[in-house]
Amino acid sequence: MKITVVGSGNVGATAANVLATKGFASEVVLIDIKEGLSEGKAMDIMQTAHMLNFDTKVVGVTSPIDNPNYEATAGSQVVIITSGIPRKPGMSREDLIGVNAKIVGGVVDQVLKYSPDAILIIISNPMDAMTYLTLKNSKLPRNRVLGQGGMLDSSRFRYYLAEALKEAGYPASVTDVDGMVVGGHSDKTMVPLVSLATYRGIPVTQLLSAEAITKAVEATKVGGATLTKLLGTSAWYAPGAAAAAMVEAIALDAKKLVPCCVYLEGEYGEDGLCIGVPVILGKDGMEKIVEVQFSDEEKAKFAESVAAARETNSKIGDALK
Ligand code: LAC
Repeated sequence: MKITVVGSGNVGATAANVLATKGFASEVVLIDIKEGLSEGKAMDIMQTAHMLNFDTKVVGVTSPIDNPNYEATAGSQVVIITSGIPRKPGMSREDLIGVNAKIVGGVVDQVLKYSPDAILIIISNPMDAMTYLTLKNSKLPRNRVLGQGGMLDSSRFRYYLAEALKEAGYPASVTDVDGMVVGGHSDKTMVPLVSLATYRGIPVTQLLSAEAITKAVEATKVGGATLTKLLGTSAWYAPGAAAAAMVEAIALDAKKLVPCCVYLEGEYGEDGLCIGVPVILGKDGMEKIVEVQFSDEEKAKFAESVAAARETNSKIGDALK
């Protein structure tokens, strides 16, 4: 398997690093507009190969904006797109739309010129709108255009639930906690599904107070913003690992149930937009959308999230062909 990661910033380089250490890919190509950045990150990762015991070849390429150079990405089966500017403290993901829509639009054209059969994973923010833009401009079937949001947000939800369980007297391992986040990858409108969250099969509602659950839900929703404030730029370890985990499910045809941003055609009563819902990930990308039962409150929140995503899509402007 050959994988390309477009954008060698923090998230892209972390994804490449995690992919290399997982070892299932023969080659990972890192590509960026910044002279030397990809080559440097690739070389640095390759110098961990002996210590971390992997055989994946990581290659770095500079591709100037005015003279794109995507030949080295040819024949990639999965392409992760992280291009664009990250948010700064105080910014919402939606604030990035004007700049990032143009960047992502251009990148997708280059990627598909050399890897026409690739499955695309969009990370660039505002992610739900960038996934919609990519799907519409590329005219690819919807199983091949996925946005990464739910994997990351669910991981943050599990982390905050584990913290809440610890405070409630159950020192839980994060890997014993399960929970899904659907809806938009947005501070205000993501929807952590409390009704389905469990600690080793026990509904968390049996162990945590309503107040503790609300605290975990609210912390999850602003999970990205909290890190942006602490770090001065957006997070990368968990976003990069989330992208790599999606690639792994596709590469291994693992049929993992993961919330991903995909184009809806009537599922959950909605159509004509990309938003986070539970899907099965396998070799064809999104192989099935799984419709689970939301509580009434979750249904209302999901509807709000859909309305907000439609509003952001309406601001994509002329980057939409
Ligand atoms: C975050 C950014 C990557 O949530 O969207 O950290």
